[in-house]
Amino acid sequence: LSIVVLISGGGTNLQAIMDYIATEKPDANIELVLSNRPDAYGLQRAAGASIKTEVIDHKAFDSRESFDQAMIEVIDPYQPDLIILAGFMRILSHGFVEHYEGRMINIHPALLPAYKGLHTHKRALADGVSHHGASVHYVTPELDSGAVIAQGRVPVLKDDTEESLEQRVHRIEHIVYPEVVKWFAEGRLSYRDNQAYMDDTLL
Ligand code: GRF
Repeated sequence: LSIVVLISGGGTNLQAIMDYIATEKPDANIELVLSNRPDAYGLQRAAGASIKTEVIDHKAFDSRESFDQAMIEVIDPYQPDLIILAGFMRILSHGFVEHYEGRMINIHPALLPAYKGLHTHKRALADGVSHHGASVHYVTPELDSGAVIAQGRVPVLKDDTEESLEQRVHRIEHIVYPEVVKWFAEGRLSYRDNQAYMDDTLL
């Protein structure tokens, strides 16, 4: 399984996936980590593990389409089976999403379909929900709306702040994202008609 990871920031999910691959040695390899921000700390995590990195700064492009086209030109030579968005903070054009549809996944810090978009922890706290979490989903043109593959759920505690809740959600992200990558590496996931399926030929 050839993997390309897209990041914009700290890359703790990237780290969790790198750690999983290093310890469990699945049939999976991160060929490239691509960031739209030159200062993303995740680039250092990748370089420290001898993973190839590239930066395509979106500020150097005058349209979303031209930025996305530049990314496709960098990504496609790696012939990725799976594109992992791990804190990649740019909205992707329909053309880009369609190019990789069925082989691109994202992690969103909420129990989708609740709380699409930004500030999910703040909104969950304001609503007083009992549980919050993170969802790994296929990426489709409509933001945070593709088929959900797996979710990690955490309780919301009485004294939670946005920060404490975010930390708890982050910890479950680091468990659920590598687990989904494992399912891909085992060839157990498929995508048809905008639905995610767990296939198990052993059953
Ligand atoms: C995570 O909260 C993820 O849900 C969201 O972006 C954040 C990335 O964090 N999509 P990190 O860069 O992996 O630490």
